[in-house]
Amino acid sequence: MENLLTERIKDHLYYIGVNDRETQLFENMWPLPDGVAYNSFLMTGEKNIIIDLVKVNTVSSYIEKVQEILKEDSLDYIVINHVEPDHSSGILNILELYPDVKLICNKKTVPFLKTYYGIEDNLIVVSEGETLELGNRKLTFYMTPMVHWPESMVTYEEESKTLFSQDIFGGFGTLNGAIFDDQVKFDDNYYSETTRYFINIVGKYASQALKALNKLKDLEISTICPVHGPIWRKEPERIVKLYTDLAQQKVKDAVLIIYGSMYGNTERMAEAVARGVAKGGITDIRIRDVGKTPFSYLLAEAWETKGIILGSCSYNNNIFPPMSFLMEELKQQKMKNNIWGIFGSYSWSGGALKRLREFTEGNKCEVLERQPEIQGAANEEELRELIQLGEDMARAILES
Ligand code: FEO
Repeated sequence: MENLLTERIKDHLYYIGVNDRETQLFENMWPLPDGVAYNSFLMTGEKNIIIDLVKVNTVSSYIEKVQEILKEDSLDYIVINHVEPDHSSGILNILELYPDVKLICNKKTVPFLKTYYGIEDNLIVVSEGETLELGNRKLTFYMTPMVHWPESMVTYEEESKTLFSQDIFGGFGTLNGAIFDDQVKFDDNYYSETTRYFINIVGKYASQALKALNKLKDLEISTICPVHGPIWRKEPERIVKLYTDLAQQKVKDAVLIIYGSMYGNTERMAEAVARGVAKGGITDIRIRDVGKTPFSYLLAEAWETKGIILGSCSYNNNIFPPMSFLMEELKQQKMKNNIWGIFGSYSWSGGALKRLREFTEGNKCEVLERQPEIQGAANEEELRELIQLGEDMARAILES
């Protein structure tokens, strides 16, 4: 009989994931203009196995999907590759329906299951490289710590060459009717939400992500089933390359100027800097207002941009608070491949440039020496210096 709610991935494997168009902010921080999918998979055979669960707010439509496949059959196992609540908070509803199901996880998952959900029983704890025979299916588990949480692991089914990669290879954006890479316009509809997802969620763990990618590179993979974003059955190597490039923080010859301004004077300075960048021969220049552009997007743009110039007004003898918050977030990203420029403005006693200097001194990247600090509105001489700052940045990029 035709399935109405679920999609077959392989003879023995179904997509039972759900879309979340209700949650506005992922982790209550990161905007979801296109929503997000919580992918889940059901493997049938002598034993029925779910791999990865969903967030509790979507669980009623999820249960319908589970039951469309299982009907009156039992559910025997659930593999918990990653316990972050977007993939586990529906678990108590599933346990009500299938109280005898066994949960397959690793030792780092155990305290999470206890403290989040009070679950201590029916656990099967696996370790690195271990293979379990579950009826006529064989699954192997590989640990991928900190991508995205300490307990994160992936599951591989050798027979079908399918990798269940949890957060790795995922992206924001719901799956709208189509679930496979060959059914969607990835570049148009998923590329930027996939890169923003990686940079926002996994970026700070990029070195661990590279280790995980390295560990997985010897597996023969025909299909990648991540917990967010499309299922990769046609060109899995494409998402592997995109993730590898992102984890290496490949930057483009471009400049991102982020300013904090209360009454427009610092914005005018940022415009002068941008003119200098353009005069210096860089064609990809973006100016962003730190008070208006959500930091999720600023972090994503910064990750992929070689030249970053931060300019801020002072506020109560300190830096403009939204810029202070952005600096904290940028620090956590541990970016390695950028060239930084800074400028500050003040009305009476300064504060912004000092904080910007402390920020750039704390990271290991190149920082331009010219660091203008301007009182009030920039005069002609000061505008010239701001233009020179932009030219310095262009030169540094083109000579790097
Ligand atoms: Fe999609 Fe780290 O949870």
